[in-house]
Amino acid sequence: MAGKRIRVKAPATVSNLSCGFDVLGLALDEPFDVVDLELTDTGTVVIDDIRGCGRLSRDPEQNVVGVVLKAASAMAGSSTGFRVSIEKGIRPGSGIGSSSASAAAAAFGANLLLGEKFTSSEMVRLAMEGERLASGAAHADNVSPALLGGIILVRSYEPLDIVRLHVPPELYCVVIHPETEIKTSVARGLLESQVPLTTAVRQWGNLAGLVAGLYREDYDLIGRSLIDFVAEPKRSVLIEGFDLLKSTAMECGALGAGISGSGPAVFALCRGGDSAAAVMKGMSEAMKSQGIGFDAYVSPVSRRGAQVW
Ligand code: HSE
Repeated sequence: MAGKRIRVKAPATVSNLSCGFDVLGLALDEPFDVVDLELTDTGTVVIDDIRGCGRLSRDPEQNVVGVVLKAASAMAGSSTGFRVSIEKGIRPGSGIGSSSASAAAAAFGANLLLGEKFTSSEMVRLAMEGERLASGAAHADNVSPALLGGIILVRSYEPLDIVRLHVPPELYCVVIHPETEIKTSVARGLLESQVPLTTAVRQWGNLAGLVAGLYREDYDLIGRSLIDFVAEPKRSVLIEGFDLLKSTAMECGALGAGISGSGPAVFALCRGGDSAAAVMKGMSEAMKSQGIGFDAYVSPVSRRGAQVW
């Protein structure tokens, strides 16, 4: 029904969780992006306004929201169109799923405007088109939790198999986001295309350990499993002060810490809000001692992803 409007928000996400490159991600409470959508019968996508970030394109072919809505309109029928405005609460190039939040909000909002036409899996696929534009790779480990909330395992990409994992009640996440920017495409370019078998064995041991730890609510096992032998050794050089941040998080009582997505944000998982507050304080002081500007967030794992706002 042309003229129907909706406002949705979708949260920042921490993907990879050290041992789960491209297959694990969790949703935070904040920050988040907000997208206002209006259904039209023009068959086109028009981006009226982008607030909170001056350098994103309003060309629908060059904007993740535009790409997602064009794909939604192609699935819904040729006369379906959208007008949108976007409010960025998450800085691009942050490592906490800035493009994913916008893409997830667009897919979620389009689905509601179109009478819940799409399955969850179809919404994830739509949002992945935004990731393809943003990073050159249609990975689902940010868009899935941004859409669905909680902690998500992407068990398979072909066919897409998204699995919602158990969230232990005391699990908190701290994120320190330095004011620098890393393009996901650049960070992906640093990775080897082949992983030696001995490295793979260590990585999948930790991945299985983390999943088991979540289900058993075994916080020590979660902590022991938050190790990345694949991406972190290659990418951490891009993040000034990474080693100090990580060691500070551990000294302050974090279960584990690592690069959030492709960085530069660094995350730490903690048991309980008090521990998370102490870890955030310690990591913030470490950043100040280096003279690096940053934002800091602390949040339980958000049970909700994209939602009407
Ligand atoms: N899994 C992706 C990567 C997330 O690490 O490249 C990007 O934020």
